[in-house]
Amino acid sequence: MEIRLQKFLAEAGIASRRKSEELIKQGLISVNDITVTQLGTKINSNTDIVKYKEKIIKLNVNYIYLMLNKPDGYVTTVKDQFDRPTILDIIQDVEERIYPIGRLDYDTEGLILLTNDGDLTYKLTHPKHNIDKTYIAKVVGIPSEKNLQNFRDGLLLDDNFKTSKAKIKILEHDKKYSYLEITIHEGKNRQVRRMCEAIGHKVVYLKRTAVGDLFIGNLKKGFYRSLTKKEISYLKNL
Ligand code: URA
Repeated sequence: MEIRLQKFLAEAGIASRRKSEELIKQGLISVNDITVTQLGTKINSNTDIVKYKEKIIKLNVNYIYLMLNKPDGYVTTVKDQFDRPTILDIIQDVEERIYPIGRLDYDTEGLILLTNDGDLTYKLTHPKHNIDKTYIAKVVGIPSEKNLQNFRDGLLLDDNFKTSKAKIKILEHDKKYSYLEITIHEGKNRQVRRMCEAIGHKVVYLKRTAVGDLFIGNLKKGFYRSLTKKEISYLKNL
């Protein structure tokens, strides 16, 4: 973000805007290790290193952590090439520029987190962290015990990706459909749908109910809430 140096100093809580101008004039502020005395100098608050008395100054970012129960018919990208609605259209009262952590398909419902905390996003989406994600899938037919076991042991998907161990159980079924509870920790494109198809059961409805120990609970479809302090520290300490 481009911002005037004195405004940056004021927003970082160093001094008032007027006092910050004094600090600049006195040659006490450097940008990328070059002393700046020119008032009105613009800096990039994301990339430039501003120092006051040799100490790096950072903006106090107002970190936002939200959990949304995504309805189907929304993309989780910030912008969509086909102009379909994005989940950011649902979030109304947040001024900070937030973005989804990970993704859900257009036609998948359920738990998605949004934040402006880049470190947490990086951590939660990095494959090495292996965070469990739990889904309820309604599929056509009733999977056999053998197919459930294959699903648990790992499947070879159409792009030759071998899935790692997963959990699956039948919650209920009628003659035509089954409701399955599935937990995986990988995040390949349409992975749950493709895994179900690999054992011969087409998914007709998919909802994510948990990410790690965070549960969608009774959050209504299309609604969102802030994470609690406990939930935020749980994610940060994963
Ligand atoms: N797996 C899928 O198939 N779709 C999702 O949206 C998430 C996981």
